[in-house]
Amino acid sequence: MPLGRVPSRFSTQAPADQTADASSLLLLGALEKSAAWILRHCFSVAEICWTLAATGGPAYGKPDHLWLAGMLHDLGKLGVSRAILEKPTGLTEQEFAQVQNHSFIGYVTLQRLVGDWIVATSSLHHHERFDGTGYPGRLAGTAIPLCARLVAVADSYDAMRALRPYRGRCSHEEAVAELRACAGRQFDPELVAVFERAAVEIGEGFEASQGLGEASILAAVRDRLEAVDWESVTPVVTARA
Ligand SMILES: [Fe+2]
Repeated sequence: MPLGRVPSRFSTQAPADQTADASSLLLLGALEKSAAWILRHCFSVAEICWTLAATGGPAYGKPDHLWLAGMLHDLGKLGVSRAILEKPTGLTEQEFAQVQNHSFIGYVTLQRLVGDWIVATSSLHHHERFDGTGYPGRLAGTAIPLCARLVAVADSYDAMRALRPYRGRCSHEEAVAELRACAGRQFDPELVAVFERAAVEIGEGFEASQGLGEASILAAVRDRLEAVDWESVTPVVTARA
């Protein structure tokens, strides 16, 4: 997944109106305030989401749309203390509850800021597990929205590959093996199969993104946000009715 290909993924349509400009600016401002490792993580997850949607076919949604969902899935972490997010040792029950709350904070924020069902729902449900033991809804199987199941796989791959303040990293092969081992329990097995079809491309894309500095990632995100077809997003209220 050479990064040079990425800008062509979005339509070249300019932002439709002032609201779209404002949304882009607000999102960029929020992302700039994120810790560097969160920004890198979200960008990497977004890239993987794009590839999964493109590989899976139309049933998985528009790749550009899933890119946006991946980019913003952890926006709610801005509402969680950095000290807790980066705590090197085990979290207390109360701290873990605060971390878990990021999915709901992201949902509420994105509902208002973007107003898009896929983007907001992906944030809310990306920590659900296929066997129904995740959070916040303990949804199981296909009751978990497809977009959130897709983001969950991308999120977990990147989380395993990336160096975090509190642990080391897995190799590509180890991360893919773990996804396979958890298919049907943590992850939708069909999405793990899609991932395996695109695994080489995803692994190469991950490696390429590791060479990018924070400024380069923000510039790439800015380009993509400026090219989002904001008129195609689905109002949350309409989609849930
Ligand atoms: Fe998350």
